[in-house]
Amino acid sequence: MSGPAPHESRTGVLFVCLGNICRSPLARMIFSDLVAKAGAAARFDIDSCGTAGYHAGGAADPRTEMIAAKYGLPTAHTSRQVRPAADFVRFDLVIPMDLENQRRLLELGAPGNRVRLMRSYDPALRGKGDHELIVPDPYYGGNDGFEQMYRMLHSACTGLLRECGVEPRL
Ligand code: 4NP
Repeated sequence: MSGPAPHESRTGVLFVCLGNICRSPLARMIFSDLVAKAGAAARFDIDSCGTAGYHAGGAADPRTEMIAAKYGLPTAHTSRQVRPAADFVRFDLVIPMDLENQRRLLELGAPGNRVRLMRSYDPALRGKGDHELIVPDPYYGGNDGFEQMYRMLHSACTGLLRECGVEPRL
């Protein structure tokens, strides 16, 4: 596990979940918004993907769109599956939402020192074990799961931005 290196060029940040319609798209929307508000857009290359391709080419889940819109985030999204050869070169930080997706990324050849669980960036969870650092899959649950997902992702994205050396303007 390593933090982001201080970069001359852009830091590549890739958020990864299973279907790329719920967790990682919302993480990408939140982090992009924090980066833009901090005036740091030029310093980052931000994207999201899924380890599975079930929804490739489609929009975000309507419940993800609803929660994004509620918090003033643009909802545009096109789902895609991870592309190991290209993604593991382009992105410095590969950020899975849970342990299954972390395992899958490592199986696909992601360099271990670039892969770190999303909630490990939440300063409130420092020192917790991996099993406590999960963003649960909200797909089969109710709307309150999406609200909880937003809060988890917002805290983690704020910590991530700080670890990248940028002070969030909230
Ligand atoms: P995500 O959620 O990985 O956060 O995008 C899911 C979306 C779709 C499915 C599972 C999880 N699915 O089985 O289709």
